[in-house]
Amino acid sequence: MEKRASPMASLLFIALLISAFHSSSEAADSQPSFGDNFSIMWSEDHFKTSEDGNTWYLSLDKETGCGFQTKQRYRFGWFTMKLKLVGGDSAGVVTAYYMCSENGAGPERDELDFEFLGNRTGQPYLIQTNVYKNGAGNREMRHMLWFDPTEDYHSYSILWNNHQIVFFVDRVPIRVFKNNGDDKNDFFPNEKPMYLFSSIWNADEWATRGGLEKTDWKKVPFISSYKDFSVEGCRWEDPYPACVSTTTENWWDQYQAWHLSDSQKMDYAWVQRNLVVYDYCKDYDRFPKLPGECSLSPWD
Ligand SMILES: *[C@@H]1O[C@H](CO)[C@@H](O)[C@H](O)[C@H]1NC(C)=O
Ligand SMILES: *[C@@H]1O[C@H](CO)[C@@H](O)[C@H](O)[C@H]1NC(C)=O
Repeated sequence: MEKRASPMASLLFIALLISAFHSSSEAADSQPSFGDNFSIMWSEDHFKTSEDGNTWYLSLDKETGCGFQTKQRYRFGWFTMKLKLVGGDSAGVVTAYYMCSENGAGPERDELDFEFLGNRTGQPYLIQTNVYKNGAGNREMRHMLWFDPTEDYHSYSILWNNHQIVFFVDRVPIRVFKNNGDDKNDFFPNEKPMYLFSSIWNADEWATRGGLEKTDWKKVPFISSYKDFSVEGCRWEDPYPACVSTTTENWWDQYQAWHLSDSQKMDYAWVQRNLVVYDYCKDYDRFPKLPGECSLSPWD
């Protein structure tokens, strides 16, 4: 018993040290008050903030939704936020969390999207992801989740480097969008720095069961909550920040981040088997000839 206790104790001690170090460094550089990093894009009166300023509540009513964006732009990195989505009857309501090179739907924009599609009470949310380059999108995938995203906060993250874009839910990779480094994928957004955005709006023309389920305005307000934004990435500075050219100095650009790890591959395989509801790369009705990037393997 004694012999076992001491290595356990020292392991525990090390774990404590690591977590103490981790949380203090996090507090120092990536968890300031929400307002330090974001500006409100529209409908200021539809925002509420927790007392400490670190949780934001976005609401939608019949009049309008609302949205915010980061003050900074980034090119490559790891971007993460915790969200808790509108509960109860949320049919027709879409909460979006995305990166985009412009703060409008400009014809040249690059964009990486998470969209949470609400549903009637008790029916499951779907999560839709999409990729845009130079204003063109049509790269939708839809997944079910393995938990109720309205009950608690979960983290939604994007890893972006010149080799892949990976969408994560609670650190489980649900989607991998590859760049093979040559012309096969000319649809890989890698040139334009992007802001992060989030918004809530009424999309009952298409969101829930293809638009059959309408928003029930008797249930207003619809509220999604946000906290724990963090970025480890290259912050853009004109004309060109140093972190973009010294790419291999940062973990998100290094070899390990160019591919899924072995354990990520296992998680990803499980998601592929169980949770994919729609994949544009399998939609031959829509694409008699599939887009080029569909032939790139997520396992490479
Ligand atoms: C958030 O804003 C603070 C204050 O301006 C800044 O120090 C910090 O680096 C910003 N965080 C990110 C992820 O850009
Ligand atoms: C909503 O629930 C219905 C019925 O369970 C399901 O078919 C649909 O995929 C769900 N999600 C959306 C966004 O329509």
